[in-house]
Amino acid sequence: MRVLVTGGAGYIGSHTTLALLREGHDVLVVDDLSNSSEESLRRVADLAGREASFVEANVRDEEKLGAAFADFKPDAVIHFAGWKAVGESTEIPLTYYRENLGSTIALLETMAKHDCHRIVFSSSATVYGEMSEPPFTEDAQTGATNPYGRTKHMLEQILEDAAAADPKLAVAVLRYFNPIGADESGRIGEDPKGIPNNLLPFVAQVAAGRREKLMVFGDDYNTADGTGARDYIHVVDLAAGHLAALEYLTGNSGYHVWNLGTGNPSTVLEIVKAFEEASGKEIPYEVVARRPGDVAASYANVDKAHRELGWSAEKTVADACADTYRWQSNNPNGFAG
Ligand code: NAD
Ligand code: WQD
Repeated sequence: MRVLVTGGAGYIGSHTTLALLREGHDVLVVDDLSNSSEESLRRVADLAGREASFVEANVRDEEKLGAAFADFKPDAVIHFAGWKAVGESTEIPLTYYRENLGSTIALLETMAKHDCHRIVFSSSATVYGEMSEPPFTEDAQTGATNPYGRTKHMLEQILEDAAAADPKLAVAVLRYFNPIGADESGRIGEDPKGIPNNLLPFVAQVAAGRREKLMVFGDDYNTADGTGARDYIHVVDLAAGHLAALEYLTGNSGYHVWNLGTGNPSTVLEIVKAFEEASGKEIPYEVVARRPGDVAASYANVDKAHRELGWSAEKTVADACADTYRWQSNNPNGFAG
């Protein structure tokens, strides 16, 4: 299949591009490199033994996007491109609405013009917000508690409306839980700019001696040990979920939603312990106040993806910690070298 991957130079996109190339698909990545570097794609090419084509462009740039479609003639699109930092989205909400909504609308219009009818979209467990109790099933009530989450929630509705209006359109909305880990080669991985917002990159930098200690945001939640519980999913399993969704869309039009998680929550302190075991390093930590906006627990019911896509997570949190540590130790400055 010929697959156009937006945001393919980023964390989840680069792992999915690698999986696509390894399965024999042809890939064109469209990425503006606003949160990534082309080095990730050079390494993906090394690992796969063949390259993805690359166009440096913002997905909102309809002229460049149209030219890429005319040239590459994709059979399907996987749409990762988007801004994703919850805290930042409360400071510059309009940028989030412009980038995330603008790129997706431009993409859907360009797909229609070029007779491309299959799209896999990166959504997030953030759409379950505080509306329902875990484990979340796909039909649970959704909403959002911050501008980033609202862009995902709105985009799900936009995609559903677009699919209702066009019988040829096939849409897979994948609600990722907490993606972690890296390719086991240790050559590609998550490369956050500045101080990491997410738990695993922060823990990895503490293990590597780049940061003194982890701040644990609250230990008085109603969870196994009082710290926040999340459904951490290995990025290589996540990538495989995209291939399964693409295959499903080949035989089914319409609008479809699947959770991609493991179904098993881990607490912050369980992650700290797993990382210590994987790295052989001590992770000093201090319990501080809860982080505003955090929920006690978030984890998936994963039956639907298993039943309909034949997909389930295979890797463990221990695998993800070992792979993250390998990536972090081999690349202390990420892709910057
Ligand atoms: P990432 O920032 O590493 O990757 C996103 C890529 O898209 C980057 O390479 C960036 O340069 C590019 N990009 C952003 N806006 C663009 C635009 N308008 N045009 C072209 N390129 C653009 O993020 P990621 O973690 O790989 O996330 C991928 C997708 O998955 C995002 O949509 C994100 O919201 C979603 N998601 C991520 C997580 C997570 O925790 N990582 C969880 C749930 C959902
Ligand atoms: C995990 C747990 C924190 C950092 C976010 C987005 C979500 C999705 C994934 C995109 C929580 C605790 C964290 C730290 C800590 N992204 N923690 N100290 O908040 O579940 O989800 O990323 O869609 O939308 O909201 O992930 O990794 O930030 O936090 O104690 O320094 O670790 O309180 O319990 P979160 P996270």
